Amino acid sequence: MQVRIFNDHQTLSDAVASEIIFLLKSKPGAVICFASGETPRLTCRLLVEKIKQEKTNLSRCTFIGLDEWVSIPPENEGSCHFFFQHELIEPLGIPLKQFHLFNAMSANLQEECKKMDKLIAEKEGIDIIVVGIGMNGHIGFNEPGVSFENYSHIIDLDETTRTVGQKYFKTPQVLQKGITLGLKHLLEAKKAILMANGSRKAGVIKRTVEENVSNNFPASIMQAHVNGYVMIDKDAASLLDQKK
Ligand code: PGA
Repeated sequence: MQVRIFNDHQTLSDAVASEIIFLLKSKPGAVICFASGETPRLTCRLLVEKIKQEKTNLSRCTFIGLDEWVSIPPENEGSCHFFFQHELIEPLGIPLKQFHLFNAMSANLQEECKKMDKLIAEKEGIDIIVVGIGMNGHIGFNEPGVSFENYSHIIDLDETTRTVGQKYFKTPQVLQKGITLGLKHLLEAKKAILMANGSRKAGVIKRTVEENVSNNFPASIMQAHVNGYVMIDKDAASLLDQKK
């Protein structure tokens, strides 16, 4: 794992967007997994700009959404579906057959997990996975205590996630379960980038980088990734012992 520190959210987001452009150019059939949330929003916007400017070929790539709130419909502005629809699918005009999101309204969520795992296996894995970090150290909805061996699964949300998650919604929501790719997917991805910005994330970034790897703090798994990058701005790096 390497830590890369940027001056601000803009330069951080620009660097992550450039990584994805580089991948798409070198491997047009790449499989890209993206998180939703406040952290990657700017990356998505810069990625859309760059793809349009450079006329990057998107005809063969595959996008995957990292997770979704169970029972929150896609038209709800706080859903991950809504984020991807407005930040990537519509602006880029990506055909839906190339963009794979969990259907968290499905009566058979296990089947959704199986479908996602099968897709990733058939595509021979994820080329790049871009994730954020929650205030409890979660990645996607891999909450504290989760097994590092999990592929896609349904999980009871941690109290922190239920509370912090309200920020995405206009009205208070009952957030009980999530459906998410597993940390095994992250470990097996050819490249993993964990992004964070702002001093609010400084404490969880310190734990990610400096604590022993443990499923009590899921983001610490980044240390075990052979091609893992913790890409953060100065504020998120402010508590690190070594500010490389
Ligand atoms: P955020 O979410 O990017 O909105 O801070 C991060 C997360 O909970 O994974």
